[in-house]
Order: sequence, then C-alpha cells, then structure tokens
Amino acid sequence: MSKRILVTGGLGYIGSHTVVALQEKGFEVVIIDNLSNSSLEVLGGITRITKISPQFEKIDLRERHDVSNFFDKYQDIDGVIHFAASKAVGESVENPLLYYENNLNTLIYLLQQLKEKETPKIIFSSSCTVYGQADELPITENAPVKKAESPYGNTKQIGEEIIADTCKVTSHLKAISLRYFNPIGAHPSAHIGELPIGTPQNLVPFITQTAAGIREKLSVFGQDYPTPDGTCIRDYIHVMDLARAHVVALERIIHGEQSENYEVFNLGTGKGNSVLEAIQAFEKVSGQKLPYDFAPRREGDITAAYADTTKANEVLKWKAEYGIEEAMQSAWKWQQELQKKQKEEI
Ligand code: NAD
Ligand code: WQD
Repeated sequence: MSKRILVTGGLGYIGSHTVVALQEKGFEVVIIDNLSNSSLEVLGGITRITKISPQFEKIDLRERHDVSNFFDKYQDIDGVIHFAASKAVGESVENPLLYYENNLNTLIYLLQQLKEKETPKIIFSSSCTVYGQADELPITENAPVKKAESPYGNTKQIGEEIIADTCKVTSHLKAISLRYFNPIGAHPSAHIGELPIGTPQNLVPFITQTAAGIREKLSVFGQDYPTPDGTCIRDYIHVMDLARAHVVALERIIHGEQSENYEVFNLGTGKGNSVLEAIQAFEKVSGQKLPYDFAPRREGDITAAYADTTKANEVLKWKAEYGIEEAMQSAWKWQQELQKKQKEEI
C-alpha cells in the first residue's frame, strides 16, 4: 500500500515541486496550505504534470484545533514534510511577531499531534541562513549556528531546536532538518514555479522579471565584497534537485536508516557563484542582455556561502544534478509562461 504524506505549504514554491516528486515515486499526498503565499491554480499545475490530483485541505496551521481535526480525519498519515512558513527576511524585521507566530506555532502544533502517533516522521525546511557568515567555506553541518540576522532566520534556528529537544525526549519521533542554500528554477514543464508576490526580493525572480520588461533594471547589491569580482557568492540549487532530496530524506526515515532520530543535512550544489556569474548564466541561456547597475550593499547580506555537501552525498546518496544554467533556463521558461497566462487573462 502506498504511504500517505502530509505536505504543509504544498502549494508553495518548493512544496509544489516536492509534491510532484513524491507522487512520481508513488506516494499519496495530502496538502495543507492557507493560500497566504500561493494560489489554488498550483493544484492544476501539479495535476498537469503527474496526472494525479493531490488531496488538498485549506487550513491555517496557526489554528491549533484545525490541526488537531485534520489528524482526526487523516489517521493514516505516514510522514509530514513541513514547508509552511513565512519567508520574507525584510518583512520579518518589520513584523517579527507574525514570523514567530507563523513559523513556530505551526511547527509546535504539528509536533504535538505527531508525537501521539506510533511512528511519527517529520522533515523540516531549514535554511543556510542559520550559519550567517561562516568562518570557513564550504560550510559543513558542523559549522556553528550564528546569532540570527533577522527574526526569519531566528525562526529557523529555534525551529531546529524545538525539533531537536522534542526528539531527545520522544525517541519514536524521527526527524530531519534540511538546510537549503539558495533555491532557484522551476519545473522544466513550466507548469509550476516560483510565484513572487509584489517586487521580488530574491535575485533570480528579479532577473527574470527584468528580462521580461516588468522591472527596468536589476540593482546588483555591492561591488566591493572581498570576492574575485566584488559581488556576493551563493550556492544556487535547482528546485528540482531540492524536491528530490526531500523524497530521499523521507525514504531514509521510513526505512529506519537514520543513525540518530534527529539529523541535519545541507542541501546545495557545493559550488558558489557570484551575482555577476548568475547574470552571465542567465544571459547565456536566455539570449537576453540583462540591464543592471551597481547599487550599495544590501543590509544583512553576507559575503559568501556555499555548501559542503559531503554528508548529503554520502549519507542520503543524493547529489545535485543540475547546474546554474539549467536552473536559469527553467526560471526563464517559467517567467515566459507566467506572462502568457497573464495575457490570456486580460
Ligand atoms: P512559499 O511561500 O512559496 O511556500 C510556503 C507555503 O506555505 C505557501 O504556499 C503559503 O501559503 C503556506 N503557508 C504559510 N503559512 C501557512 C500557515 N500558517 N498555514 C498553512 N499554510 C501556510 O515558500 P518556499 O520558498 O516554498 O519555502 C518553503 C519553506 O522553505 C519555508 O519554510 C521557507 O522558510 C524554507 N526556505 C525557503 C528558501 C527559499 O529561498 N525559497 C530557502 C531556505 C528555506
Ligand atoms: C542572492 C544574492 C544579493 C537581489 C535569501 C534569504 C535566505 C534564504 C534564501 C530562506 C545576494 C544579490 C539580490 C537583487 C542583488 N531564504 N541580489 N540584487 O539573500 O542569499 O538569501 O534567500 O531561508 O534566508 O536571506 O538570496 O536571492 O535575496 O540574494 O544583487 O535585486 O543576490 O545581494 O548577494 P539571499 P537573494
């Protein structure tokens, strides 16, 4: 019998790609999403790819009773992948309570339900942001967690601690935190992708919107960093690789292969690219010249971060397969698809 997996935030960017990857591996998926940063149309996109419509429950996970009612209704959930969270760093500085409430209460309510189950399993979306500016590159999972720069980053640190502490006293709870580096790109079909609301804060959606003429030009934040070309370095990982990693991590828990009941893995390509290299990769695959200029450094930005992926490679037997060019190509295809849709709607 196929396993039934709850994917919270399953209509969001990374969640939707993971739902596809799970369905393709024969898992049955139930999605919870409150649509605060997504749209019901994503369900159609998922179904177009896999020909399987996932079950969907519109629930706000901040409502403790709704979470409890969900688990009463779906008693046979075999595992949870918890993506649901608010993720805008700047907004978290403006409205910390929203972030602490949404990113921590939702996790607590889920864990309260899960620990009552026979063999509860959870995968948590963490972030490389927990490392801040690491002293050594590439960054291993043993690098110290630095004081968070933002309430958002803090919710990821505290979220990990909540899970670790719960696992210590709940030995039948099996958990994995996945620390993503910079997720980019879209499904190659362009049926699903990232849906930034308002002006994108992240580099790649800003690049694709600029190339599409929605934004006048990209501002490259800082050109005097101590890097070879003076711009910041990040580890850009294709969302398809990220989605596959969740399935692999889930299978590890399901098959009882964990060495401890709580584990942490970095998910990145292991390669750092500067902002200028990212622009070049985009220009190469799109054939578009990207208008950009240099602007002052953005507050809170770190100079460089890229993953040491040895642990994920060896333990999960997972490795990123795509590079930045393929990721940019898919992001561009997705942007063009979005515009086609918008034109049709007019
Ligand atoms: P996203 O905003 O696209 O997806 C999150 C989804 O969760 C959305 O569909 C939203 O509607 C839903 N949601 C939010 N609060 C909810 C609530 N209270 N109840 C039910 N649903 C709720 O974000 P994403 O980029 O797919 O990120 C997924 C996870 O990965 C998040 O936890 C995020 O913090 C983490 N993460 C993201 C990145 C990134 O750069 N995208 C990097 C590292 C970690
Ligand atoms: C990448 C690079 C910018 C926009 C953020 C969160 C982090 C994680 C991933 C969730 C940086 C530069 C960007 C622009 C630019 N999210 N840039 N012009 O900041 O590495 O990470 O998303 O956990 O927590 O902080 O990603 O895409 O915003 O920036 O020059 O208009 O692009 O300075 O060097 P970041 P990003």
